[in-house]
Amino acid sequence: MSNTIGTNFRVTTFGESHGPAIGAIVDGCPAGVSLSVADIQPQLDRRRPGQSTLTTSRAERDQVRILSGVSAGLTMGSPIALVIDNTDCRSEDYEAIQKVPRPSHADFTYCLKYGHTAASGAGRASARETVARVAAGAVAEKFLAVKHNVQIVAWVSAVGGLETPDLTAKTLTRKEVDATQVRCPHEDSARAFAGLIEAVKKEGDSVGGIITCVCRNVPPGWGEPVFGKLNALLAHAMLTIPAAKGFEVGSGFAGARQRGSEQNDLFVLKGGRLGTRTNRSGGIQGGISNGEPLIFRVAFKPASSIAKEQETADYEGRPVKLRIPGRHDPCVLPRAVAIVEAMGALVLADAARQNEECRM
Ligand SMILES: Cc1cc2nc3c(=O)[nH]c(=O)nc-3n(C[C@H](O)[C@H](O)[C@H](O)COP(=O)(O)O)c2cc1C
Repeated sequence: MSNTIGTNFRVTTFGESHGPAIGAIVDGCPAGVSLSVADIQPQLDRRRPGQSTLTTSRAERDQVRILSGVSAGLTMGSPIALVIDNTDCRSEDYEAIQKVPRPSHADFTYCLKYGHTAASGAGRASARETVARVAAGAVAEKFLAVKHNVQIVAWVSAVGGLETPDLTAKTLTRKEVDATQVRCPHEDSARAFAGLIEAVKKEGDSVGGIITCVCRNVPPGWGEPVFGKLNALLAHAMLTIPAAKGFEVGSGFAGARQRGSEQNDLFVLKGGRLGTRTNRSGGIQGGISNGEPLIFRVAFKPASSIAKEQETADYEGRPVKLRIPGRHDPCVLPRAVAIVEAMGALVLADAARQNEECRM
């Protein structure tokens, strides 16, 4: 099982959804970064279940503890161990699905591969695992902010068929993103998104959407030209998030419908350095950051555990009418904002450390 991401800034996560705790080991953070629980907890609170009626009601406090790697408020260059206890598991909610694999969840493939369904709560396939990524991502973000002034902000830009206007040219803050429960900084869209999620939830159904992420102040030169392309590393990281089904950087799939003359980012002097007039490349060319803001989008499917009746089959192939009980997210997007930011930070921290060694 692959549980580690990164080469120079490496993160290993551990723990199951219904085990005693979830955690991460962060290895490769340089010494001397000021770090405390206060740097990590706000992002965990943004990912936490039970934040609003738009998310699952599982009530985890998600308090992080730093077990190693930090002394007198500074990182020591040694592995940083982060632990978050699981306190609100309800294994009985999963009894109904012991004999029936949830359609489009991980139960069937996990069982085929490992011979068990992780007893309850989907084990390592559960989105509960992402609490560890968010904790580790906050460490990466602190390193990136202190050393390079990198700022990462993501928001919900589409729910179902509804979409915001393009907001990537604005310098949005997390405060603006968090002004609405749905984490969309465009008021009218936020209202429409929340209404759609509430309506879908009432029907016992779920809905997907898109998260847009912008990373500012990324210096030119991060990423590599062949297999270590920054866009490829971001795509990999984003598509490891449960329910993530699509990734695009810059103009992405829309760019496929353009001509070269419409797509090209023309060069221009910007405050004494060469930059681009537009940013359809999303800040990455040839796999290497070009000094413009990084812009990417991640598409999420609707959560598969729904209360609405589905005609499916049990593990023996017998037809079953399934209604999935328990506390599930009608839309994973508001909680996934912090996860997208965390995965972005992990990729950038790794690229930053790799770049330190690239030339004399
Ligand atoms: C923040 C977040 C919360 C999620 N909550 C649920 C949930 O409540 N119910 C559910 O069925 N899936 C949920 N998912 C998605 C599943 O974990 C995911 O669909 C499942 O592991 C199968 O993986 P796949 O969809 O990537 O193939 C959530 C995902 C994220 C990112």
